[in-house]
Amino acid sequence: MTRLSVNIDHVATVRQARKARQPDPIAGAVLAELAGAHGITCHIRGDRRHILDRDLALLRETVATRLNVEMAATSEMLRIARRVRPDLVTLVPEKPGEVTTEGGIDAAGRSRQLGPHIKALRRSRIDVSLFIDPDPRQVEASAALGVPTIELNTNAYSSARTGREQARAFDELVVSAEMGAERGLVIAAGHGLDLINVRPVADIPQVIELNIGHSIIARAVLVGLERAVREMLEAIGRG
Ligand code: PXP
Repeated sequence: MTRLSVNIDHVATVRQARKARQPDPIAGAVLAELAGAHGITCHIRGDRRHILDRDLALLRETVATRLNVEMAATSEMLRIARRVRPDLVTLVPEKPGEVTTEGGIDAAGRSRQLGPHIKALRRSRIDVSLFIDPDPRQVEASAALGVPTIELNTNAYSSARTGREQARAFDELVVSAEMGAERGLVIAAGHGLDLINVRPVADIPQVIELNIGHSIIARAVLVGLERAVREMLEAIGRG
């Protein structure tokens, strides 16, 4: 059965729009858990545009499920991971001006840099996941890097403009999920998933966790966070 990890970044985005105290992403995490979320995800960016260091410290103390922190593979972030000790660190690529994470990390092309970084995290007994595009080369490279988990980037599927494009992107997700599971990897997925497009991805048997942020928080502004989380749980068959 697929688990839902709610990404609370955009609660913090609203707070940072005014550099205010509210809304507090910690409260968002508590409400998401009360509504049944199986985990909490957040992304600490180099520019601290939403999640702050203070949020990570408080989330580590308050999250009762599983805390997944997305971050770039930099020495600053390694220090933060060692201090905060999330249940899972998901390594993502980060470009300074991007609106959101634009693609998966290049596990195949950057293996010489990622290898020591992953080893350092694992030596600190922190579980590591790589956010990768659903591409057999990237799945193979991730397995070779020795990570226990991969998160497949669902952006091509979520942003497809035609049924054909979406079907092709979906097939890529299925192939990569099967391939990853055959190599013993735990498979997660996420990016751009919403109430309408989520079900087929949730139903891929190898996908055990979905990371969903923007669509839940966007809906929460209008209907409340607990209802938005419950609706997503229903949409993935966990209602
Ligand atoms: N997974 C990763 C690695 C991400 O960077 C993001 C966006 O922060 C998500 C999942 C969630 O994407 P969305 O906010 O579109 O649901």
